[in-house]
Amino acid sequence: MAEKRGIASAPVHGRRVLVRVDFNVPQDADGRIADDRRMQEALPTLNHLRAAGARTILLSHLGRPEGHRDPRFSLRPVAHHLSVLLGQPVSFAEDIVGARPLELATRLENGQFLMLENLRFHPGEEANDPAFAAQLASLGQVFVEDAFGTVHRAHASTVGVPKRLPSFAGLLVEREVRELSKLVEAPARPYMVVVGGAKVADKLPLLTSFLGRADSLLVGGALAFPFLHAQNAGLGATKVEGGLKEAVDLFFQQAKSAGTEVVLPSDLLIERPGTSEATAHAVGHIPPGGVAKDIGPETRARFAEVLARSRTVFWNGPLGLAEDPRFANGTREVLARLAEVPGYHVAAGGDSARVAHDLGVAGSFQFISTGGGAALEFVQGLELPGLAVLPDA
Ligand code: 3PG
Repeated sequence: MAEKRGIASAPVHGRRVLVRVDFNVPQDADGRIADDRRMQEALPTLNHLRAAGARTILLSHLGRPEGHRDPRFSLRPVAHHLSVLLGQPVSFAEDIVGARPLELATRLENGQFLMLENLRFHPGEEANDPAFAAQLASLGQVFVEDAFGTVHRAHASTVGVPKRLPSFAGLLVEREVRELSKLVEAPARPYMVVVGGAKVADKLPLLTSFLGRADSLLVGGALAFPFLHAQNAGLGATKVEGGLKEAVDLFFQQAKSAGTEVVLPSDLLIERPGTSEATAHAVGHIPPGGVAKDIGPETRARFAEVLARSRTVFWNGPLGLAEDPRFANGTREVLARLAEVPGYHVAAGGDSARVAHDLGVAGSFQFISTGGGAALEFVQGLELPGLAVLPDA
């Protein structure tokens, strides 16, 4: 997609700059930030604004509090964590709009930061309510979009505010657009896509979007089960998402006419009830009562062999139940082998980044997106409202 007007040209010195960030970060039971990668990735933009003498007002959501104030989703701990990352205080406004945030915003000096409470505590955010967007916009003079993970949402902070202020793409958004565009615009072929995780109903549009655009589609995780089931492969007691037979049959037909190879597991790692032991079995020979938890060794080798021929790879989702170390080997091994393959490799969506880091295979990728749903929509070639609203460079 066309490059967006970036912050290098933004007049920010001495101005109040509203920056939409995606600080929707996982927290542990005590409210501590469990994974601050999205915050780390926003630092180049925040450091740029600080050095340029901007008065930065940070806007973010956290979780899905659905328009109500809910202390479990407060951004206060996130503001505190950010102050540590920036090495300077970040003031915090408990209200999102109104007299208090306005007063705090106008008190900011050049190079200082203010963070507003979770935007989704206000029903106007997700509804893209014009009055709420106007109030938010009135806090600043310039808008910077750096929340790549949220650009697929048409909310007040992602669409309403940039419509009302001179708007620019932050450095993270610029980078995400530049990197992910390589997958959409003429990727080097063979282009191979690996999709795992669960929920076929959710991911079928994603898989379908690659037909004809990718050369091979490798399907793992629970996502593979309805495909295997549609081919009448017995899967023991493995739970298979139902009601998908027709959609999956249609998908196979479309793949055939598009000339995209669909690679499914040929063996699976099976857990038997009452034992903690897992053994590999060929698809079609899964013992009764056995539950599939990961791809088997033959499938790992086959996936690695297919990927060895690639020049571009897009990866989304684990190939097994990777949060359990017993079932992480399929994902780890395939990705470790990918590291040896020259080419351009990108991971995106859901918890793909976390899985790649946790399994020590993040180095297999040239780029790991901070986006979940946003990255998946981008690679499908869909228009993202939070990007569409920004002026081109
Ligand atoms: C994400 O984590 O994908 C983004 O922060 C968007 O969150 P949402 O799906 O709740 O809109």
